[in-house]
Amino acid sequence: MHGRGWPKSEGIMLKTLLLSVGDRTLNSILHGNSHRPPSLSRGVFLYLRRQSLNEIHRKYHAVADLFPLMQGNEYDSLKADIAANGLREPICLHPNGSILDGRNRHRACIETETPPRFRTWDSKGSLVGFVVSMNLRRRHLNETQRAMIAAKIANMPLGANQYTMGAHICAPITQPEAAKTMNIGVRNVQHAKQILEHGTPELREAVEQGKIGVVPAAKAATELSEEKQNEFTNLAVSGMTGTQARRELVKRQREEQWRKIESTPHALDENNWPKSITLYTGDFAQVAQALEPESISLIVTDPPYGADNTHLYELLAREAARLLRPGGSLLAMAGQLTLPAIYNLMQPYLAYHWTIAYLTLGGQSPQIWPRKVNTFWKPVLWFTKGEYTGDWQGDVVKSDNNDKRFHGWGQSESGIGRLVSKFPSPGIVLDPFVGGGTVGIVCHRLRRPFIGIDVDAEAIETTRRRILTEVVSARS
Ligand SMILES: C[S@@+](CC[C@H](N)C(=O)[O-])C[C@H]1O[C@@H](n2cnc3c(N)ncnc32)[C@H](O)[C@@H]1O
Repeated sequence: MHGRGWPKSEGIMLKTLLLSVGDRTLNSILHGNSHRPPSLSRGVFLYLRRQSLNEIHRKYHAVADLFPLMQGNEYDSLKADIAANGLREPICLHPNGSILDGRNRHRACIETETPPRFRTWDSKGSLVGFVVSMNLRRRHLNETQRAMIAAKIANMPLGANQYTMGAHICAPITQPEAAKTMNIGVRNVQHAKQILEHGTPELREAVEQGKIGVVPAAKAATELSEEKQNEFTNLAVSGMTGTQARRELVKRQREEQWRKIESTPHALDENNWPKSITLYTGDFAQVAQALEPESISLIVTDPPYGADNTHLYELLAREAARLLRPGGSLLAMAGQLTLPAIYNLMQPYLAYHWTIAYLTLGGQSPQIWPRKVNTFWKPVLWFTKGEYTGDWQGDVVKSDNNDKRFHGWGQSESGIGRLVSKFPSPGIVLDPFVGGGTVGIVCHRLRRPFIGIDVDAEAIETTRRRILTEVVSARS
């Protein structure tokens, strides 16, 4: 029993007891046997029982919790080995008595009634570095698990390092440093951080156990409600890949919306349709011909991106020049890759006013491979017909989340809501690339008249149902 984390006098007392009552009896008391052997006085028995409770309740150091506890076969094999051969490698304690390295061995010792052995960390160097190197040497962790550990290391605030873990630890570790320590990409650490910040305990646990990849889990954490995250976790741990589970969930969420509206009497009745909203199916440049010149006060839109679609921005500027009332604004989202071409194509028709940064921090951060850039914002090109006469504007708009419930390229209601609210001038708002109808929903809530166009009949039907759902649920 030497080397235990108990004070020296207790260690000597235990050794004496060990000689007098025997290894088996002592162990059985230390591991919970509640019957006092006749050979032991009540005082000594109670002392030993207290020690046993101390052992079961021995604290884990916060740094040890960076690593997931072993589960399943891995833990069963460890337990079997310890039961057969005893504890080969002592459990490492912090000088304050908590377990730094060896929580699984400690659990296994208690469960197999094997006497644990301990050593105390020498307090030299970085505590995090020590625990990480001990575990990386011993544990088989996949990329996902290593990413979660890196995110936790990078997340440790200085205060926690200094006070929770002792003064020796280290200054805060950056994400790139944590990524290097755990031998994974920084991108994965960022995904893992989103899971730590937005994921439910069930989702975090499944990722820490390596059962769901960090990328789909991060999307689930940032896009789904807590209830849906847990549904996602169940699907993913019971056989689907993370990506399949996420798609399935988004599909179920949409179907749920439709069921809700279809089960509401008269919900799809055209009489419920708000008179301030009109939807058209067709190519926007053709449909736009049917709209009155200078009848639109604001255009907010998100056309398809990419080199194949830059011509749409020219057509958009051309139609906007005809449809906007004087002083009206066009706000068009665009991809960064094709910006120079787009600016050139639009300027002959409208006055370039500014570029607004639309922050997509809540989960959307596509990797732009040709430029090696992870992007966290979208440009919103602001053009006007003639001089802008509205209020002063800040040039950053934040989206809180990534919302693909209604369209594969859908924008969030939070971000689009903030964008539209910046331009409160009365008159019709137009989205000629309406997709899943986010601009339409936002306008309905802001009581702004709205026209939406999309070449895709399914997108128009989705928008129609989305708006009807909104109208009907606002009444109930
Ligand atoms: C990026 S999505 C819009 C997503 C929308 N902002 C949302 O939040 O759901 C672009 C949409 O433009 C539509 N589209 C593409 N070409 C078009 C065209 N020539 N005329 C009208 N719509 C078009 C696509 O069908 C697609 O639904």
